[in-house]
Order: sequence, then C-alpha cells, then structure tokens
Amino acid sequence: MRLNSPQINLITKACLKASRSLIRDFGEIENLQVLSKGPGDFVSSADKRTEKIIIDELQRAHPEYGIISEEIGLINKSNTKNRWIIDPIDGTTNFLNGVPQFAISIGYEEDSEIKCGVIFNPITNEMFSAEKGNGAYLNNSRIRVSNKKKLIDALLVTGGPKGASKIKDTIFSEYINVSNNASSVRKFGSAALDMAYVACGRVDGYWQREINYWDIAAGIVILKEAGGFLDFFDEDPNIPLKKNILASNFNIHNELKELINKKDIE
Ligand code: 2AM
Ligand code: CA
Repeated sequence: MRLNSPQINLITKACLKASRSLIRDFGEIENLQVLSKGPGDFVSSADKRTEKIIIDELQRAHPEYGIISEEIGLINKSNTKNRWIIDPIDGTTNFLNGVPQFAISIGYEEDSEIKCGVIFNPITNEMFSAEKGNGAYLNNSRIRVSNKKKLIDALLVTGGPKGASKIKDTIFSEYINVSNNASSVRKFGSAALDMAYVACGRVDGYWQREINYWDIAAGIVILKEAGGFLDFFDEDPNIPLKKNILASNFNIHNELKELINKKDIE
C-alpha cells in the first residue's frame, strides 16, 4: 500500500488497536440479547471504550489537534486547522442487534479538507482507506467506483429517517422517487460503510439526509480518491455538523441529483 503520511499511519494504528476490544464486545452481544434489560447500556459503554482507545492513541502523537467525536463531542475546539473526526461505532443499531455491518471511521481534516481517512469493519476485516492524491484502497487493493451508466440499472443505498426527524415525509417521498427510477435501493445501516461501498463499486450511489459529519468524514476522501462524485445540499449554516449528502459514480450523478428534492445544488 502506498499510503504513507504520518496521519494515515496513526489513524490506521489507532483503528486497529480499538478494533480488538470492539471485536470482543461484539462477541458479548449474543449473550446479552437474552437478558431482559437488553444490550443497550453495554453498547453505549462499548462505544465509549472504543472512542477512548482511539483518542488516547491520537492524542499521544498530537495533543494539540482538534477532535470531533460522536460520544465525547469537541476537544481542543480552538484548533480548527488540524482535526481528527471520529465515529467509534458507525452502525450502532446493527451492532446492538448482532448484525456485523458496522465500522470504526476516522478522518483527518486539515484546513477544512479531509486529507485521509479509514473505515474499518472489524468483523469482515475490511479496511477501506485513502489519502488525498494517493488513491483509495480496500485492504491492499486499489478500489474504484462502478462504471454503471444509467440510474435504472443502478443499485443504491440510503438511510434514515431517524425517529426524531421532522422531515420524514420528504425522506420517504425521495425514497419512493428514487426507487421508481433505479434498479434497487438498500438500507444497510452504516453510513460510513455505505460510502465505502460506493467507493469500491459494490453499490453505485448513496444519498442520505440529516447525517452527522463524523459518519461520513472518512468516506469523503475515500470516495473522492476512488473516482466518486459528492454533493452536499440544503446545508444549514447554523448546524455545520449535520449534512445532506449525495455520493455516486460520475455517470449516474446527475440523474440521481434530479430525483432529490434539494433546494441548493446546481
Ligand atoms: P450511528 O450508528 O453511529 O448512530 C444509519 O442510517 C446511519 O445513520 C448510521 O450511520 C447511524 O450512525 C446514523 N445515525 C444514527 N442516528 C442518527 C441521528 N439521530 N442523526 C443522524 N444520523 C444518525
Ligand atoms: Ca455514526
């Protein structure tokens, strides 16, 4: 693999270290399913444990870097030049139910641009990684988005709406709209892996409203380095960490865009 910046080496190391305890935690879930209390509390502590291992590792190298992480929030808020963007378990509901579709996602942002990132599913042992200018990889192999030409032949993935969403009607109507114009639509339940799957051509496109920046930060560079196209739409400047995203291969991008009720993508 030709990815060799200090940052990619560091996030890969932190991710692999945290994954060892995460795999153990996942193994416990099956036992917990039978308890009446359910595994909810356990999962939230697994999330925090994983996050701590990652943050400790990254802070040891760069105590001054900013951090945005799902559980703990912001660290070193004033450093907006160099930031780690972390989601310790993306796909928590899958994890909670013993479904092996979840990932650790870590991105490195410099001057507001994601420069490198890793998305790791520790159960399938699939490590997606990329560095700006140096390509995207699945383990040791280069990856590229699909070459599907038409939306009607395309396999797409989406997520949401969340229970608390105030725009459920919009999300459902988009789902119907896109489904009627594509080959098929899936909901796998991990935004980070959804992005990675577009990057390696398993699916042709992904869109989702009301997603958090940490869910997709690493995916941004992985997708771009794999030749993918990205749009953020209907952005609310008051909530910069909430995103609406459209990501796909080049060929189907415009067709997909036209089916989304966005207000502000050209
Ligand atoms: P999580 O598993 O880390 O919570 C599923 O469609 C995707 O949406 C997952 O990546 C999930 O991340 C994310 N997600 C879960 N709850 C969310 C919320 N309230 N707002 C936005 N995204 C959410
Ligand atoms: Ca997440």
